[in-house]
Amino acid sequence: KDLYAPGRVNSAGVEFGDARALALFREAVAKGPASFPEAARPLVGGKALRGAIRSVTSPVDGAPVGAVEEADAAAVTAAFDRAAAGFAVWSRTPVSTRAEALETLADKLEARLGTFCALLAREAGKTLDDGVAEVREAVDFCRYYAQEARRQFGEGVVMPGPTGEENRLRLRGRGTIVCISPWNFPLAIFLGQVAAALAAGNAVIAKPAEQTPLVAAATVALAHEAGIPADALALMPGDGRVGALLVGEPRVTGVAFTGSTEVAWIINRQLAAKRGPIVPLIAETGGINAMIVDATALPEQVSDDVVLSAFRSAGQRCSALRLLCLQEDVAERMLEMVIGAAAELRIGDPMDPATHVGPVIDAEAKARLEAVVERAKAEGRLVWQARLPADLPPGLFVPPAVIRVAKPEDLTEEVFGPVLHVTTWKAGGLARLTDAIAANGTGLTLGIHSRIDQVVEEVVARLANGNVYVNRNMIGAVVGTQPFGGSGLSGTGPKAGGPHYLPRFALEQVVTVNT
Ligand code: NAD
Ligand code: ALA
Repeated sequence: KDLYAPGRVNSAGVEFGDARALALFREAVAKGPASFPEAARPLVGGKALRGAIRSVTSPVDGAPVGAVEEADAAAVTAAFDRAAAGFAVWSRTPVSTRAEALETLADKLEARLGTFCALLAREAGKTLDDGVAEVREAVDFCRYYAQEARRQFGEGVVMPGPTGEENRLRLRGRGTIVCISPWNFPLAIFLGQVAAALAAGNAVIAKPAEQTPLVAAATVALAHEAGIPADALALMPGDGRVGALLVGEPRVTGVAFTGSTEVAWIINRQLAAKRGPIVPLIAETGGINAMIVDATALPEQVSDDVVLSAFRSAGQRCSALRLLCLQEDVAERMLEMVIGAAAELRIGDPMDPATHVGPVIDAEAKARLEAVVERAKAEGRLVWQARLPADLPPGLFVPPAVIRVAKPEDLTEEVFGPVLHVTTWKAGGLARLTDAIAANGTGLTLGIHSRIDQVVEEVVARLANGNVYVNRNMIGAVVGTQPFGGSGLSGTGPKAGGPHYLPRFALEQVVTVNT
């Protein structure tokens, strides 16, 4: 009932075709840096704590963006102390008040679109297009979870039973949820987890990725301003060591993690080794996302969708296309068109509205991607690589590349950046192809390009990926429309931006009253 949340409209962002709106947006972006937070500090009960200082530099040109002071064991203990007090108040705050605070936060974020786009560009290397999409997604998460909280966390549901008794099933907060997020959506995923946990009535201790603490600090400041109590939301900047301290704290009642499968395993092991209450893990991880293209697909559409799916956001999306599987009969022609379209991409400063591909996040990522390309080149498998323009800022740019693999199984890990692998399959070989894709154990996104219904049905029946896109690109899931997330090596199955997400952050309680 009401699964589709009628009456809520997703954030509109900026209409780039509207000259006045665009001019206002550009002005706001240009002014953005003046209001960046100078430092991200551990924030507990609304008070900034001190910690070891590190400078935050931009992947665009290596210039400083600000500083971060990292949380330590004392900060973690203090955060759990205050979260207990925060939970006591917030969990008993009427759901309508909790929802209103999230909606106020959404309004404030929307009003600062240009500032956040500038910060996302400087700290995370996001193009302005990606920045707008990310702010919109963050706004949508707040409004959607506010609406879902009202729908699901109110009076509860009266269950059928014998007369003389009332049985009411209700959802309530779990306690203190630790939210650990990645750098590639430093606003939307950071805030998506936090907003869901808060909407469900929990206190939250949020640990952003070490690469993007400033976006997180700006977001938490806005959340407090919007009416989220200081004790209900703490910020713990730092690297994986801070994450491990938070996960290891005896008082944690749930962990929401988005990031690599490798770290999800580590957290899962750490939680499983604990004595005491069983602590649930909500994990949303990556995948070796494939697109299957058969001979009936429309070549122009395929090339546009492949380029967008593989190279937008410099390939740094968990949903991005990693393995393109072309039917042999049409492979060479399709590949030629994909390369032709990819060659049109403009690589450059993400603050320039004409840029399609910005830098990758850090030097480690750049080195890892370059090693993959170098190995392919040495083995004669590099099909194409873009040339970097001469006027690039001195940042961490990796030119988009296409690499051939003989069979799907040859790609064994998620290559997180603008590097697309391509393979071919023979007519009649769909079963073998889908088995090979399934065998890598990941189940996040999947693309299918085919004009034959039976082919689409067969592939969907054989592969349980969380988000399947037919005859379109495979990125940019829309909140409330395409609930997003996968299973297997891609996570524990939650669907962010969907109607079943909030209950993952909640306890179910049944109260039976003898009337
Ligand atoms: P990562 O796993 O390296 O880091 C994610 C977070 O975990 C960071 O905040 C990091 O500091 C923290 N962390 C690291 N070690 C930890 C430990 N031992 N204990 C607790 N926390 C620890 O991932 P990343 O490089 O930031 O992000 C890229 C990955 O995230 C890719 O694999 C991508 O596919 C995935 N991702 C998945 C989704 C999704 O919705 N399924 C969305 C975005 C990104
Ligand atoms: N939700 C993001 C997408 O679909 C990761 O691209």
